[in-house]
Amino acid sequence: MWDQLPLILCLTISCVCFADADVKCELQHNGNNEQFPKEFSFGVSTAAYQIEGAWNEDGKGPSIWDNYTHMHPERIADHSNGDNAAESYHRFAQDLVALKELKVGFYRFSISWSRLLPKADTTVKNQKAIDYYNMVIDKLLENNIEPMVTMFHYDMPDGLMKFGGFTNDIVIKYFRFYADILFETFGDRVKKWITFNEPFDYCLPGYGSAYFPPMIHAPGVADYICMDNLLKAHASAYRLYKAKYFHSQRGKVGITISSRFYYPKNNDAEEVVDRGLQYSLGWLAHPIFGKSGNYPYKVIEDITSNSMREGLAWSRLRPFNFYWSKIIKGSGDFLGLNYYTSRYVEIADPPLGENPSWERDSRLKYSVDKNWKRAKSNWLFCAPKGLEDLLKWIRDNYNNVEVYITENGWSDNGELNDADRIDYLKAHLQAVLNAVNDGCKVTYYSHWSLIDNFEWNRGFTEKFGLYYVNMTSKNKERVAKNSAHYYRSVIESRKISSSDNFV
Ligand code: NOJ
Repeated sequence: MWDQLPLILCLTISCVCFADADVKCELQHNGNNEQFPKEFSFGVSTAAYQIEGAWNEDGKGPSIWDNYTHMHPERIADHSNGDNAAESYHRFAQDLVALKELKVGFYRFSISWSRLLPKADTTVKNQKAIDYYNMVIDKLLENNIEPMVTMFHYDMPDGLMKFGGFTNDIVIKYFRFYADILFETFGDRVKKWITFNEPFDYCLPGYGSAYFPPMIHAPGVADYICMDNLLKAHASAYRLYKAKYFHSQRGKVGITISSRFYYPKNNDAEEVVDRGLQYSLGWLAHPIFGKSGNYPYKVIEDITSNSMREGLAWSRLRPFNFYWSKIIKGSGDFLGLNYYTSRYVEIADPPLGENPSWERDSRLKYSVDKNWKRAKSNWLFCAPKGLEDLLKWIRDNYNNVEVYITENGWSDNGELNDADRIDYLKAHLQAVLNAVNDGCKVTYYSHWSLIDNFEWNRGFTEKFGLYYVNMTSKNKERVAKNSAHYYRSVIESRKISSSDNFV
């Protein structure tokens, strides 16, 4: 989580010690079953803006990422944008070859809202977009690859942004209509739906720190409103599915939340671990999967008293009323989890960050271990035990809800001999297997990403693909990296094989 927030990183990481070249990225097997259960599924993930390109073709409307990269190229590390990216809109056949080579059981991709509904509302339905996504879904199914569809992966239609985006509660209605069209059009074949990808990483940088589009700078207020409306939009889509489609389509609907695990910096501070988790995963997971149908008690209490101290007449975080609590509580058939890394945590005294802000409300200070290997991304350190511990925390706190790991991955310069990615993948698969052996209900694991793609503000400077894509070549060939061969060997044997033959 917070992968796109260098600002928070600078403010809150007390010491970032870069790892020595021989620092390990590994995890021991916990001694139980060595084989993944037979119903466990392996996959890979992508997102529309990061791979599709064709940003203005065949009737697609602009999204906030189109506008932002065009208006502010200086904010992207290499001044690039997703106008063409890996051209998956025209080259899905090449992606399919890679998917088949990997032998994945499922493929998680996102639908571009503004490709389907260029104006965001229901006035224009873009048939070309329907044809494209129908083709993707049908090809996947023909090849026994289950489609897992994300409905919203950061790329808000510009049409909706014109009147406030996620700060206007009309977005709940708009999203519900969009969801209705998705379920109606594709739900006969798509049985796994993810309403939103990483609400925190969309709302905090977008409506808080202004690091991402729509670049609204109102921390501790607009970002909280965004998450509030987003949770309501999620739950409304979930209820719609249950009422109108479930009886005929029999699919599952969930949400993807990103989180790190937190370890106490000082041995006597176990409660800061809980604080770290309640202010991240819990903010979104507690209302849906917890008992109260509301934000974590601690979070509500802190922000209410901070708001009163600031002289406000009401809390910057409005708890859900009875009506919304009822709708939100239980609105997830699974918890989608994006896990990349972990942190040490301690109470920040005095609190850090702008006043007000999430950093200030959470009053936490983060650091990393010098034994954690660092990826190309400055926020990404290899901490596989954190995934195992996070899965156990979810098991214990949310009644062992079914978890799909919807993202987990490592960045580098795009080398074909990507030994570090193999180490990372191997260690994190081990974390998943250990957790499964310890009774956690994890049923899907998806690696980020199938192919190299547009990494938001980092442009094409940080690569996460199992397949290399030469972004400047005419045909944008997908070339398997060593990690792709390694992942395939795990998928085939359903065991965490030795990586010796792949480096
Ligand atoms: C999570 C996001 O969902 C994805 O879009 C991004 O590329 C990866 N993290 C890596 O930062």
